[in-house]
Parts: sequence; C-alpha cells; structure tokens
Amino acid sequence: MRLTILGGGGFRVPLVYGALLGDRAEGRVSQVVLHDLDADRLSAVTRVLAEQAAGVPDAPAVTATTDLEEALRGADFVFSAIRVGGLEGRADDERVALAEGVLGQETVGAGGIAYGLRTVPVAVDVARRVARLAPEAWVINFTNPAGLVTEAMSRYLGDRVIGICDSPVGLGRRIARVLGADPGRAFIDYVGLNHLGWVRGLRVAGRDELPRLLADPALLGSFEEGRLFGPDWLRSLGAVPNEYLHYYYFNRETVRAYQEADRTRGAFLRDQQARFYEEMRHPDAPALATWDRTRAEREATYMAENREAAGAGEREADDLSGGYEKVALALMRAVARDERATLILNVRNRGTLAVLDADAVIEVPCLVDANGAHPLAVDPLPGHATGLVCAVKAVEREVLAAADSGSRASAVRAFALHPLVDSVNVAHRLVEGYTAVHPGLAYLR
Ligand code: G6P
Ligand code: MN
Repeated sequence: MRLTILGGGGFRVPLVYGALLGDRAEGRVSQVVLHDLDADRLSAVTRVLAEQAAGVPDAPAVTATTDLEEALRGADFVFSAIRVGGLEGRADDERVALAEGVLGQETVGAGGIAYGLRTVPVAVDVARRVARLAPEAWVINFTNPAGLVTEAMSRYLGDRVIGICDSPVGLGRRIARVLGADPGRAFIDYVGLNHLGWVRGLRVAGRDELPRLLADPALLGSFEEGRLFGPDWLRSLGAVPNEYLHYYYFNRETVRAYQEADRTRGAFLRDQQARFYEEMRHPDAPALATWDRTRAEREATYMAENREAAGAGEREADDLSGGYEKVALALMRAVARDERATLILNVRNRGTLAVLDADAVIEVPCLVDANGAHPLAVDPLPGHATGLVCAVKAVEREVLAAADSGSRASAVRAFALHPLVDSVNVAHRLVEGYTAVHPGLAYLR
C-alpha cells in the first residue's frame, strides 16, 4: 500500500508517520512518498522519520521527491497537507485583517477567505492531476480551510476526496471523558461545516448523556469548551460548539486578544518553524528530539489567545496529543480493509442537511467502509446554527466562484457576506490589502 503525502516537508508529517509505525495489521502502508516544493524541508522531515523508524521492524519505506507527477503515480492514498504561501502567508492573512479590525484566523472570517482564495486554485490543480494519474486513489484532505478545499477538490474527484479535522473528535473525546463514557462506544451527534459544528448529543447504548453534562455547571466548567464558552452559554445553546465557534460567539474579545498579542498565531508559528528548519540544517542536530520539542511548544500554545480572552487557563495534558493522525489512520484502515468505522468527516451533503444542496461539503459522522464515507442521518440544526452554516457556505461558494473565474467581484462578495466582516467597505479594502501582499491572488481581476 502506497501513501503519498503532499506537503511532505511539513511539520506534522512525523505525527502521521508515527501512527503508521504503530499499525501492524495486514494491508498496512508499506511505502510513503513525500512530496514538497522545498527540498530542504523534505530532507529535514526525512531525517525525523528515519529516527522514528530506527529499531522498528518493517517500518514503511520513505522516499522524497519534488516532482508532483512522480509522487502521484501509483499512489493508493494521497494525503494533501499543503500550505500555499507558507506560514509567512498565514501571518500576512492575520495582519491585513487585523488592520481592518476583523479576524484573520486561517480558517475563520477574513483570514480563512484569503487563505481559501489562495489555496483553492492549487488544490484544484492537484485534484485534476490525481484524477489523471491516480484515478483509483483516495485523497484525504487535511489542507485548511479543510471543508472549502475538500469541496473544491470534490468537483474533480467526487467522493474520492474526504476532508478530515481532529477538532470534532477531540471535542467528542473531551465530552465523553467528563461524562465518564467510553469514547470508543459513544456516538457523537455532531454536524455543521468544518470548524463550524455543534455536538447536540452523545449517545451510549442508545441513551443521550449530553443533558447530564448540560445540567451540571461543575462538569461544564471542567473541560476546554466549557471554560472557553462558559457553562451558561452552553446551557443556553443546549449544545457544545466546536472550539472555533469561539471566534463567532466572542468575536469582539477574540479580535481584541489577537490585536493585543505580541505576535499572532501565524507569526509565532512562522518564527518557531523557521527556527526548527534552520536547526535541522546542522547535520548533527538531533532530528527527532528537536522536532518533538518544537511540537510540544506548538501544541501547548494552540488557541492561547482564545483561552486568554476567556480566562480558560492552560490546556489539559490529555488534550495536547492531537488526534489528527489517528483520524487519518482510522479512515485509511476502514477504506483499505473494509473495516467499518464511524468517523466525523468532511463529505458531500447528499441530503443530510436539507437546507444545503447535495454537493455542499459538510462535516458529519460518516459510516466508512471500502466504498468510502457515507454521511449518517442527523437531526436538523436549530435556526441559529442553520443561519450561520448557510451564510458561511454562501461565502465558500463565492470563494470557489472567484477561484474558478478570477472574478474580483466574487472575492469582494465572499468577504462582504461573511458574518464576521462588518462592512462592504471593509471587504473592498481586504481584497485590496490581500492582493497587494499575496502574489498568489494575482488571478483576481
Ligand atoms: C487543530 C485544527 C487544525 C489546525 C491545527 C493546528 O487541530 O483542527 O485545523 O491545523 O489545530 O493549529 P495551529 O494553530 O497549531 O497551526
Ligand atoms: Mn481543523
């Protein structure tokens, strides 16, 4: 089984490789092909993987290339984890938005739109090449903004592209933990768009345990989302939102926290990651130890401004170890071995949410088997959530239209129609500001 990783010089590749090393089952991945535009990053990551594999019998073989077509030929699975414009681009996204007083987060609000406008044309190019060179391959998209990028790719790959995110799984795991339920036996009733979804129930043996959580302020205050949103607001909603909804429900505070921070998340990661790749230029640098130290720091500071704005304190140790690679591996295993699994994934709606059309990519529990991911029926969303989902999907559609046609008017509409952009004038200035700093947006006319 051959897995190709696009963005193979990326910092989180060792997480994926670590998960593969733990997989001993029949039909597991035996070959990993890393693709990246940057040969130095490829060699840094290859060194980390080599140290991870030391002493592991039958570790998957790793090769690296800067030739995309070579990387895609013969792939059974393609992980797409690219970052168009790099972390410098992410920091620019934040800066331009904050200068207008709006949010520049890489997946939410103006920043997410700018990142999407840059990424969709590249993701579409990848999708077309996969369709031509590896039509039987399954594409697992990690590239943010993950829902939008998955939808862009699905226009060329249909249901062969599946988007993943670890935030719904992490949320489900935390809720199960505070309820004393086994996360492996719990069904998480979650739906929405990527980074815009709500847990409305957690069923164990057919019984919904969520009301017990919502009724107990002490339990509500004992986990990340409870502290972020506050017990009162969760009770009021009757649901637990994805942590990224903090940017919506507490927009003013999160924008201010970002403005007051020494450095935005993107700027912090730009500097932190640059140091890692710089250290890796020394041939004697301890690759795995250097990577692991950098990873721990990255995880500990995740959403720090939001936690600060909410007075939520530090992250819990149990929440640090991600889960992104576990979702990817579970998905691959279910597809490759026809091992049925229920996973929350980004797939085409096909009638699951009646308010969206069949091709809209949503994030929803899916039954996965050798035929792919099949969304499960879920209860409709309440009006307030439907409103946000429809508004943001309309924004995503404007981004896709802009990427397709090069229409600047579509790009302006994308910004102006976003619930977190408060004026059409701001939208115009955002388009000007972003096109001035990002050469990748030169296609907008
Ligand atoms: C979560 C999100 C991902 C995001 C990751 C890293 O897992 O679901 O979409 O890429 O965090 O965030 P960071 O701010 O460290 O890049
Ligand atoms: Mn995510």
